[in-house]
Amino acid sequence: MKVLITGGAGFIGSHLAEACLQRGDDVYIIDDLSTGSRDNVRPFEKDERYRGRFFVHIDSILNHNALLELTGICDVVFHLAAAVGVRYILENPLESIKVNIQGTEKVLELCAKFKKKVLIASTSEVYGKHMHAPLVETDNIIYGPSSKFRWSYAASKLMDEFTALAYHRIKGLAVIITRLFNTVGPRQTGAYGMVIPRFVEQALAGRPLTVYGDGRQTRTFTYVKDVVDALMGLVDCPQAVGEVFNVGGTEETTIVDLARRIIELTGSSSPIELIPYEKAFGKDFEDMQRRVPSIEKIKALIGFEPASDLDEILQKVIATMRRGAS
Ligand SMILES: NC(=O)c1ccc[n+]([C@@H]2O[C@H](COP(=O)([O-])OP(=O)(O)OC[C@H]3O[C@@H](n4cnc5c(N)ncnc54)[C@H](O)[C@@H]3O)[C@@H](O)[C@H]2O)c1
Repeated sequence: MKVLITGGAGFIGSHLAEACLQRGDDVYIIDDLSTGSRDNVRPFEKDERYRGRFFVHIDSILNHNALLELTGICDVVFHLAAAVGVRYILENPLESIKVNIQGTEKVLELCAKFKKKVLIASTSEVYGKHMHAPLVETDNIIYGPSSKFRWSYAASKLMDEFTALAYHRIKGLAVIITRLFNTVGPRQTGAYGMVIPRFVEQALAGRPLTVYGDGRQTRTFTYVKDVVDALMGLVDCPQAVGEVFNVGGTEETTIVDLARRIIELTGSSSPIELIPYEKAFGKDFEDMQRRVPSIEKIKALIGFEPASDLDEILQKVIATMRRGAS
């Protein structure tokens, strides 16, 4: 099979590329390296096993001609390219909206033109400010005001979902929507606000672990390999078409407990420092207090269940970051 991965030089995209190469697919990626890195995929470019099967295009999905050619060649598209990360979105609000809305529309338009199945990477952020758990795909969505730019990421991804579902309904396009919850693993950078690599980096350097807010907000975390298995499993499943799926872990932790666990597992003597949201992100920020997925739907369809628990995930990330490798 010929697979196109937009955002394939990013964190999740590079793991997906590796898994597709391992199962024998030809893999094409398109990435503008805005938050991704060529280093994430360089080992596969040099790997003899993948010679003549791995193609890297450094370009934007907003470049119509590049995307047209690649979509035409491939059998299936995993659309992961997006402006990602709370800090990145707040610092680049206009470009983020453009990439997430216009970029996805372009991908969908070309997939419809060539009749190619497409999986869209959406996010748990689309649920907004819920306090209940677990979050079910059919739950209502609650956002803050448009003056709080934090919600622009959620709203742009929600618009991607609407557009994808409209292409499915009106043009018969085979779309699958996945709402990814916090995903973690090697090659994820803490630079754009991702909490686990940031805490591990701080703990290993003996610096304070900076927890935003009071630290009582909760999250779940999924190991990237589990997420990649889910994405590939859904694309291989005809019944997934036209549907929305949560993809995430179910072990809920507060962020302050996460910081404590990382300090313990790294053997660090770093303290924990609470930083008010406004100081960390400015006035455009509001947090989500709780974010736990129901994974019943994806479990029932493809038997998905995360294989790694939180301690295993943390051990793997710590080991990788200690080696300074990916
Ligand atoms: N990591 C998570 O916890 C998480 C959670 C929810 C959703 N997601 C979604 O998963 C996808 C992948 O995220 P990730 O964590 O791997 O982040 P990432 O930043 O590592 O990956 C995004 C990739 O897209 C590329 N990109 C951005 N704009 C582009 C453009 N205009 N043209 C081509 N490439 C472009 C970036 O360079 C990067 O390589 C995103 O769509 C994101 O919204 C991730």
